[in-house]
Amino acid sequence: MRSVEPVDLSWGRTFINGFPHPFFVWLRREAPVWWHPPTEHSPDGEGFWVVSRHADVAAMFKDPDTFSSELGGTQLAPSTGAGIQLNQTDDPHHRHLRALVNKGFTPRMIGRLEDDLRARARAILDGVDDAAPFDFVARIARELPLQAICSVLGVPQGDRLELCEIVDRGVGAESPEIVSMDAVRELTGYARTLLAEKRTNPADDILSVIVHAELEDGSRLTDKELRAFFTLLFPAGAETTRSAMAGGLVALMDHPDQWRALQADPSRLKVAIEEIVRWTSPSVYKRRTTRRDVELRGQAIPAGAKITLWEMSANHDEEVFGDPFTFDISRDPNPHVGFGLGTHFCLGASLARMELKVMYEELLDRYDCFEPAGAARWSNNNRLVGMTELPVRAHRRG
Ligand code: HEM
Repeated sequence: MRSVEPVDLSWGRTFINGFPHPFFVWLRREAPVWWHPPTEHSPDGEGFWVVSRHADVAAMFKDPDTFSSELGGTQLAPSTGAGIQLNQTDDPHHRHLRALVNKGFTPRMIGRLEDDLRARARAILDGVDDAAPFDFVARIARELPLQAICSVLGVPQGDRLELCEIVDRGVGAESPEIVSMDAVRELTGYARTLLAEKRTNPADDILSVIVHAELEDGSRLTDKELRAFFTLLFPAGAETTRSAMAGGLVALMDHPDQWRALQADPSRLKVAIEEIVRWTSPSVYKRRTTRRDVELRGQAIPAGAKITLWEMSANHDEEVFGDPFTFDISRDPNPHVGFGLGTHFCLGASLARMELKVMYEELLDRYDCFEPAGAARWSNNNRLVGMTELPVRAHRRG
């Protein structure tokens, strides 16, 4: 296979037209553990390792003792959340923190939200003026995840669009690794006020639970840790599911036969949703830091090295997925790593799956089909690759 020109994976603009798949096809084949040299966009001017094959990505997810989330956080840029925020801690502290919120996100608890999510999905669709083309991201794909995370956390629904705008500004910063500090400050300020409110007026929601919770060792979360929970959970709930919902619709518009198959038998959605998550892989890469010297596919990697694992690439690995570049709603088994694996496996996976199921059921029921009504726009970001705008025309069922 001929060599391809390396692209700068630390630059958001590389992702402006979607994920650079051709480069990763080459990496998986020729350089599955590749040293990315520093570029003018690389945080701290440092290079990093790029791991692209499914087997290696899965093995790293499952070996947190060697590949730490705490030493340097989970993105390339230096992080203020390392060692504090759930996803950027290592066990046993991570396990203690996760135990506080786990109960709220089990499949059983999320199952109880189905009726509420369905009512919300219907209200969202009722509010869309579909006589003319509209932006599927703004009107539909971002709405249900936002409303859902507000309702689970206990955030007033009226604040959701303002918060969403802050988060979007944060991740969409020109240099995407350097999350806009203004946005972080605004989100933290909001968290401070809301958590104080939960302290005095607890309700049946996750933020009230963590404000009053004790860790297994009897200690309580510090204010900083509490705010870190909010600044993780809100964006995590708002951003990724939106990308899966919008990216899934694009795939189904491109494959009208598969849209029809789902319409004929919506019970096929359960399997289809896994394919949508594989196909869109909205959470694109994770960073880890080596705790010790390791050797990976013949490459000697010293302790303390920045190493990135690319879920999007693992989910298109030719060794694991037959025809990985074919969107196939009946792909089963589908061992994608779109929600991660191991101790940091996505806390919100059941919630995301439920949101996707409910919204697609409602879309399939209400609309005969969708068609593109203009060019989609992608985020300028290498961690959350997704559409920021998707103009569509929707045709109601007759
Ligand atoms: C399609 C939608 C989603 C995708 C693709 C996704 C993807 C991921 C991935 C890959 C991880 C692993 C992170 C790591 O190993 O460093 C993760 C963790 C996490 N996700 Fe999601 N996620 C989605 C939806 C959600 C939702 C709706 C929530 C809402 C609560 C959420 C909350 C979290 C949290 C809190 C973690 C950290 C868990 C831990 O460190 O123990 N995610 N997610």
